[in-house]
Amino acid sequence: MDLSGRLVVVTGASRGIGEATARSLVEAGARVVGVARDAARLEGLAAEFGLVPRVADLQDPLEVAGLIGSVEREVGPIDVLVNNAGMEATEAFWEATAERVAAIVALNLLAPIELSRQVVGPMLARGSGRIVNVSSLAGCVPVPGFATYGATKAGLTHFTAGLARDLAGTNVRTTCVELGPVTTDMLVSLKRHAPTDRAYRRLYRAGVLCDLRPDTAADAIRDAIRRDRAHVRLPRRAALSAQIAQIPRLVTNLITAGVHEAGG
Ligand SMILES: NC(=O)c1ccc[n+]([C@@H]2O[C@H](COP(=O)([O-])OP(=O)(O)OC[C@H]3O[C@@H](n4cnc5c(N)ncnc54)[C@H](OP(=O)(O)O)[C@@H]3O)[C@@H](O)[C@H]2O)c1
Repeated sequence: MDLSGRLVVVTGASRGIGEATARSLVEAGARVVGVARDAARLEGLAAEFGLVPRVADLQDPLEVAGLIGSVEREVGPIDVLVNNAGMEATEAFWEATAERVAAIVALNLLAPIELSRQVVGPMLARGSGRIVNVSSLAGCVPVPGFATYGATKAGLTHFTAGLARDLAGTNVRTTCVELGPVTTDMLVSLKRHAPTDRAYRRLYRAGVLCDLRPDTAADAIRDAIRRDRAHVRLPRRAALSAQIAQIPRLVTNLITAGVHEAGG
């Protein structure tokens, strides 16, 4: 998709990967609506590079309801939705509160599914669109401290595969982004949990993982939209685990749909 003049909604655009993605998309000529809670930060980015700010708390189903419709009425038809907003909940699972479990599931899994549901109908009616879901390699490998976080990301990855299957034969496409560690506030926070930090150190020492910069992840997301790619898996050295996890989905698609539709 040529991004020039396209309208893209990026959730979690106030910092980290979402901010870098919004910036990269604006540089590529897109208009970007950035969704997050921090109004002052969004206003700063609006002044800096033209982000269109949209304040919303995506943990709150009432704020998620109707969000896509109101952006389409006020700004225009959405060409691309990037579901990026997310939170970690890095802790021993038995220390988690019911509120924190509900919050992470609401933000990381329910919100992207619901926003996809709201946008997919209008995209199908217009005959084009792309839904990009920012998942994690933690969705296919177990990491200490990540029981709930990993479950939400496994759910988002599998949701994206299911959505791609439903959309086969249409001009509405999906991209599943499975990332390793990216140097954002989230990475600092999750390494405060000692068992998670130890696991990361071992994976770095084994050469399986390396840190990505937010702009590297952002540019890969931008290029996937431009080049119609169904998957972004970074760092490349860790991509094999996600590719292997994809095999049952590919085989099932081959059997149920045939070779031409099996790529999702
Ligand atoms: N960093 C990593 O190592 C890593 C690795 C793999 C995948 N990911 C995924 O990449 C995505 C972005 O992560 P990041 O590292 O950039 O995180 P981050 O630096 O912590 O930024 C999170 C973003 O989500 C927004 N957000 C948080 N809670 C929200 C809420 N209730 N409603 C609306 N927006 C909310 C934040 O904005 P406000 O606080 O202003 O609301 C912020 O813009 C997440 O889905 C994460 O799971 C990250």
